[in-house]
Amino acid sequence: MPASPSAASADALAEFVRRLPKAELHLHIEGTLEPELIFRLARRNHVALPYDSVESLRAAYAFTNLQSFLDLYYAGAGVLLTEQDFHDLTAAYVQRARADGVVHAEIMFDPQTHTARGVAIETVFAGIAGALREARDRHGFTSCLLMSFLRHLSEQDAFETLEAALPLRKQYADLWIGIGLDSAERGNPPEKFARVFARCRELGFRLVAHAGEEGPAAYVGDALDLLHVERIDHGVHSEEDPALMRRLASQRIPLTVCPLSNLKLRVVDDLSRHNLARMLRAGVNVTLNSDDPAYFGGYVLDNYVASARALSLSPVEIGQLAANSLAASFLPDADKARLARDLASVLAQCPAP
Ligand code: ADE
Ligand code: ZN
Repeated sequence: MPASPSAASADALAEFVRRLPKAELHLHIEGTLEPELIFRLARRNHVALPYDSVESLRAAYAFTNLQSFLDLYYAGAGVLLTEQDFHDLTAAYVQRARADGVVHAEIMFDPQTHTARGVAIETVFAGIAGALREARDRHGFTSCLLMSFLRHLSEQDAFETLEAALPLRKQYADLWIGIGLDSAERGNPPEKFARVFARCRELGFRLVAHAGEEGPAAYVGDALDLLHVERIDHGVHSEEDPALMRRLASQRIPLTVCPLSNLKLRVVDDLSRHNLARMLRAGVNVTLNSDDPAYFGGYVLDNYVASARALSLSPVEIGQLAANSLAASFLPDADKARLARDLASVLAQCPAP
């Protein structure tokens, strides 16, 4: 029995969202490293941690901006050493995502975070891919990989990472289909990576980039025009430029928005002032995602529920967000159509919360 009417409606909302087939399109696998797993892997790998408990580590997750988060996030990834570590990390994410009704995930990973510590890029690919193939074969959970370059490093470093990864392309052709760009945005504009993205485009990769998270709307336009990306990760600063907003809406360019991330990194000071509902209502192809759920206090379902409550999203709008996530995925058209039909039939049967 729910404790109160508001608890009852919260449960009904969560159950409604859970039942909608959804894709998660903006997820850093290193950002799913929960404090408990950090401690378990540190013990397994004999890595010393500067925290004496899970609680004290979690207490350090009080971020003031993107960089304050990135410092802890790169340090946390230091416990990932073996193929088994990357496998366990990925398997834990899949289990959590499936529980939220995610049926397909497009997963970013940052090889440079690991190769800089002496971990072979082959180890990273093998561990993540092993878990994703198991998820596909055992549960029908589909996914793909977006290898992402760290934008605080040089374009030359990105080129070297691409060269190191390309010999693995055939072996991971079922998963590795795209390229992303993440890390510290301000001062590292899209143009810094124009040549390496041009090479990736020639090679036939799907392209995405973080833009307009902390950076200006101009970075969103430049990611589209200079990097030729198909989706923008975050993009919440697009609203500063009405012409850009019209372009996003008319071309149905997807934004992979991450509300709880924006709240934790102080991109917005209150979820009730997040612009995702306004952008959705202006016809922008907004999707909801968790970004780095272990650090930001919520997986996909939490992002939907918190946004729906803070912004009074209607059941139709919640359904639209789920539909957008399927349409904006890199799945083949036939799979998108099948999932869209599944979603429509769930929406037709589900009592609205
Ligand atoms: N890497 C992991 N999470 C990120 C974010 N929110 N922005 C930029 N780079 C990231
Ligand atoms: Zn991100």
